[in-house]
Amino acid sequence: MTQTSQPKPLAGQAAIVSGALGDIGRAIALTLAHQGAHVALGDVKDPAEAEPFLKEVRGAGVRARYDRVDVADAQAVGAWVRAAAKDFGAPALIVPNAAIVTLADFRAVTPEQFARELDVNLHGAFHLAHAGVQELLAAKKPGRVVFVGSWAGQRPHVHIPTYCVAKAGLRMLSQCMALELAPFDILVNEVAPGYVDAGLSAMLWKKNPPAREKARRNVPTQRLIDPAEVAAAVAWLCDPANRHVTGQSLVLDGGLSLTSVTTKKEGEA
Ligand SMILES: NC(=O)c1ccc[n+]([C@@H]2O[C@H](COP(=O)([O-])OP(=O)(O)OC[C@H]3O[C@@H](n4cnc5c(N)ncnc54)[C@H](O)[C@@H]3O)[C@@H](O)[C@H]2O)c1
Repeated sequence: MTQTSQPKPLAGQAAIVSGALGDIGRAIALTLAHQGAHVALGDVKDPAEAEPFLKEVRGAGVRARYDRVDVADAQAVGAWVRAAAKDFGAPALIVPNAAIVTLADFRAVTPEQFARELDVNLHGAFHLAHAGVQELLAAKKPGRVVFVGSWAGQRPHVHIPTYCVAKAGLRMLSQCMALELAPFDILVNEVAPGYVDAGLSAMLWKKNPPAREKARRNVPTQRLIDPAEVAAAVAWLCDPANRHVTGQSLVLDGGLSLTSVTTKKEGEA
């Protein structure tokens, strides 16, 4: 009996992902590629670091490119988006994912730290979404924007107030965009993970290993999240089968945001 292979849901679509050399960014890029999308990757890291990963993405049978770009720089992001669109077509799947985190409470954070973190985490996400949507509208194509937010945008955390502000801003940006862009069949959502066992959280836990286990125990499901699980949620929102979900925050946190507001530091019991 001959087996017919299933058509890939995102076959031939153009995706663009920022922070694509980070742990969650890589998982998102790979997942979208395995579902058939050509992927434009952007990050601040050296292009040499991107080479092995580009090979891996291309191994899924799609096209991929890497651009070194600081998302805080609106002009650089515009140039990246235009170059990617020239290569793969207007980006139908836009995933602003790049972020940094500064461990400094309100009394300790400097105006420079506050401004830089908003520049990357909020303005940077805006720059990519804005430039990408302009390309889509000019091409008269439908699309999906999925911001990578955080449960920290839904609850106050005293040790990372700047990060919380940026992620809360993203949620409102995605809702305003969703309302404005729905008539153009551009759906805009946010995936808001809790504790992912990688990336920014893993970086903090490296400095304080017992905090990882404490964090896990604080999650009602008692589980940390795998980057591939975040990527699957992003891909689900990108799937053409999703024709109705827009302006939503898909909180992927094992119930963490249902627990009481905390004044404790990351991972404290
Ligand atoms: N790890 C977690 O527990 C967790 C939880 C919730 C949300 N998130 C979100 O997931 C996303 C990815 O984070 P991660 O955990 O994979 O961290 P990560 O540090 O592994 O990845 C972030 C990537 O963004 C890149 N980046 C930083 N500044 C940039 C800039 N100015 N321009 C372009 N790229 C830049 C970094 O080089 C890095 O590759 C972020 O939006 C983060 O807020 C992470």
